[in-house]
Amino acid sequence: MQIHNLSEQNSILNIFISEIRDVVIQKDSMRFRRNIERIGEILAYEMSKSLTYHASTIETPLGKSSINLFDNDIVLCSILRAGVPLHQGLLNYFDDAENAFISAYRHHRHDPESFEIVVEYLACPNLENKRLILADPMLATGQSLVATFEALKPFGIPKEIHLVNVIGAQDGIDFIDGYFPENTHLWIATVDDKLNDKGYIVPGLGDAGDLAFGEKLQR
Ligand code: URA
Repeated sequence: MQIHNLSEQNSILNIFISEIRDVVIQKDSMRFRRNIERIGEILAYEMSKSLTYHASTIETPLGKSSINLFDNDIVLCSILRAGVPLHQGLLNYFDDAENAFISAYRHHRHDPESFEIVVEYLACPNLENKRLILADPMLATGQSLVATFEALKPFGIPKEIHLVNVIGAQDGIDFIDGYFPENTHLWIATVDDKLNDKGYIVPGLGDAGDLAFGEKLQR
């Protein structure tokens, strides 16, 4: 797996990351969603540099212009519900991507510190030989990404997999590194050191789904 950690270089991305982490600013849910979307746009731009391109000619009012355009074989799959604003950010740039949605949530049976990932809803086009983007803002334990990837397998074998995340924990990255095939890229805005006992990223930002869409009842 090739890891592209965008925080290794300072850029305007730092502003958006600081705002989604900030305990005061993140309470403005519209700003939170928009910042996640903006981060998705930046990740899409960076990812676009790794795509394959073909030569194209555009007719302007004054003549012809040659330009390379990317081969549009992208399927953009997001994990509900926290993935929705990130999905929108990616879709803002990958205009014609096909789309897939999957729900994956943490089910705590008895012990609040242990959980299993439950996948329920799945809507997906054919993935055979496509470029699959799997978007999930928080890469914590990595279990949701693995459960999602397993659930998508009956839909075909993608030619490349691009995992797109906002904040990751090093343990989760190590976990998925051993799991996803070699033709996988990880595009991540920033990486934190650890997880707490409940599997939340520290310092992280809290619960991305709740910050974007409000608190939910635990099941
Ligand atoms: N999901 C979140 O929303 N936050 C975390 O820190 C981990 C998983």
